[in-house]
Amino acid sequence: MTHENKLGMFIHWGVYAMYELHEQVLARYEVNREEYEARALTFNPTEYDPEKWVLLAKDAGMKYICFTSKHHDGFCMWDTKYTDYNIMNTTYGKDVLKMLADACQKHGMLLSIYYSCPDWYHDYGYNPEASHQWMAKNKDRDPQIEIYLEYVKNQITELLSNYGKIYTLFWDIPPKIYDPSFNELARKLQPGIYINDRGYSEGDFSTPEREHDGIAPKRFERMTEACNAVGEQSWGFRKNEDFHTTRYLTSSIDKVMALGGSYLLNVGPDANGIITKEYEDIIRFVGSWYNRVSVATENHESDDFDYGVYYNKSIVTKKGEKSYFHFYEGLVSSGVWMRNIPSTPKSVVLLNTGEKLTFAIEPMISKFNRNEAIALPGLHIMNIPVENLYGEAIIIEIEW
Ligand code: GLC
Repeated sequence: MTHENKLGMFIHWGVYAMYELHEQVLARYEVNREEYEARALTFNPTEYDPEKWVLLAKDAGMKYICFTSKHHDGFCMWDTKYTDYNIMNTTYGKDVLKMLADACQKHGMLLSIYYSCPDWYHDYGYNPEASHQWMAKNKDRDPQIEIYLEYVKNQITELLSNYGKIYTLFWDIPPKIYDPSFNELARKLQPGIYINDRGYSEGDFSTPEREHDGIAPKRFERMTEACNAVGEQSWGFRKNEDFHTTRYLTSSIDKVMALGGSYLLNVGPDANGIITKEYEDIIRFVGSWYNRVSVATENHESDDFDYGVYYNKSIVTKKGEKSYFHFYEGLVSSGVWMRNIPSTPKSVVLLNTGEKLTFAIEPMISKFNRNEAIALPGLHIMNIPVENLYGEAIIIEIEW
């Protein structure tokens, strides 16, 4: 991602929201296909007001929204002419993507498109090479994948032609079919678009998800956009969701951004089109934190000076004369010590609250250097109000 657009809102919304369980409910629960398809047509999100979504994202400091145009179930959330299995044929009958695109346009929010490569509805969507094929239709039929690939191209052409400027294209589930013409098509239709790495060729950015494989605290070499959801169990709306703690989310976001990445934080609106209170509260909390600290998460470079920060895990970034110490897992006490400093700080600020912190150059004793007879001097930052900051990652700015 460009450095200006670090935080985005991921939105998983489809007819699966009616089941209040999971975006892959069709495959992961005992749901009958005919029943699912019939129910899809009754989708009627009468409370859908995309401006509310956009304004929530904007308040949270988010610069773009990535919307699930088609998830694995194959149901299309826009007015597509390539299948009848789409939003125009539901009770609601309106192009919800168009409505979202207009709201984004009105409020200066960028729009990105998520598109699933697996398709459990299309007659030729079955792709034995790839994963997430559990509910694929017609597994026994001669695959004729080229019929499906043509369909994908036609739909991508619609999505990238009819909804204004599209910021990123988020393919999902690598199809394991190498064909650069898909991304070429996308770039022709939307010059400057960023494309992820889950499609038909390499793309521009990687997409570590939910920290499944962990993220080493090492600056990303490739453009990276991590994604995670406010809910632990599902990306789509879930009634009894296990919500992540804000401490976990801010920690994960801070770490990824300190390493130079962007972050998509997901919500799953319900079947009425509402981002319900539990989801909203988390977005607001994370957003309030983000707005206070974002000076440290945008347009920075890594700061490779060896400060010898004691005890707390940190990643250090810099901008000009300022260094940012990202204590992404919080602090273990109300003080921070570091062994090496390039000069005496001009100021030390706790970005979480904006307050100036007191500091001194003084001998470090106690556990830090208990084997040395004469305590060596270091920088001691003190009286950090950690008790009020349990819910969030802590960032300290030092001007040298
Ligand atoms: C995984 C899930 C999918 C979800 C996606 C978001 O690939 O299988 O349901 O949409 O993550 O990145």
